[in-house]
Amino acid sequence: MQRLAPALREDNVSLDLISLIKTILAATKEISFRVSQAHLGGLLGSTLDENIQGEVQKKLDVVANELIKDILLESGFVKAISSEEEDDSVAGDENGKFLVSFDPLDGSSNIDINSLIGTIFSIHEAIPGMAADDPAQFKQAGHKQVCAGYVLYGPSTMLVMTTGKGTHFYVLDRTHGGFLLVERNVQVPQDTKEFAVNMSNQRFWQAPMQNYINDLLAGDTGPRGKNFNMRWIAAMVGDIHRVLQRGGIFTYPADSKNPEQPYKLRLMYEANPMSYLIEQAGGLAMTSKERIMDIEPDSIHQRVEVIMGSKNEVEACLAYYQ
Ligand code: F6P
Ligand code: MN
Repeated sequence: MQRLAPALREDNVSLDLISLIKTILAATKEISFRVSQAHLGGLLGSTLDENIQGEVQKKLDVVANELIKDILLESGFVKAISSEEEDDSVAGDENGKFLVSFDPLDGSSNIDINSLIGTIFSIHEAIPGMAADDPAQFKQAGHKQVCAGYVLYGPSTMLVMTTGKGTHFYVLDRTHGGFLLVERNVQVPQDTKEFAVNMSNQRFWQAPMQNYINDLLAGDTGPRGKNFNMRWIAAMVGDIHRVLQRGGIFTYPADSKNPEQPYKLRLMYEANPMSYLIEQAGGLAMTSKERIMDIEPDSIHQRVEVIMGSKNEVEACLAYYQ
């Protein structure tokens, strides 16, 4: 099995970007270890603080954020970072070539129940002439990402990453401490019989999503003429990993639960990187109106509606909005 760096060189990834990726992965290996220590590491449970999103921070959220932030800011490769757990972007090296956005620990509510969690990251090129402390440099659409990926802390620790030459799977080999390539050019099946959505929000969705899901639930007695299965891990990394592996549609649609916040997932460090991975695997990643990666961001913590996965199923869903 191929090691990470040679696999990336085969995709013509620059040495600078390979070094940056290895830097991020060094932090995730440490996070993987801390996660596996659970009660033994004293890091389960919550802190007394809330993040900018108004969510209570888990101890592991904070530790994961510090590990990634420190290693990136010390690396010299990075001009600035933005994180789910940081109020504002944080300046790095003025000569750094890259901008990194990340969700240090996605699926935080799974931490204390020993279930799937992961780190999501998205890399853009820094814009020459803009200051390292200028948050406006993060206002770049998802289609400008040069790399996106996640590390899933599951029964095995897996890296799923794209640099624009397909989406590849790697597994952390603890015998030598590196990630090994296990599947090149993963393809999301175009058709599916599986959907992922938090059904408890159903009554708050807009009519098109209500109608679409009702037709899935009607199974072979309804207009779709086939039975659908449902899965919800409550960690986007876990649900998207399943979709990449065996197909499916994943959605967090707009809802009216809190009129001031119709969307849940974050564009910069959740929706964009996952969209890049899904599209590079032949899937579709949309809102009900447009391609997610074409959205011009207006702030680093912006939220967005997400409908992604198997191409034909995403198109079937979007047809309800027309
Ligand atoms: O980061 C947000 C997140 O935890 C995602 O990972 C996940 O898909 C979603 O929220 C879960 O939402 P809910 O709590 O509504 O099930
Ligand atoms: Mn998250």
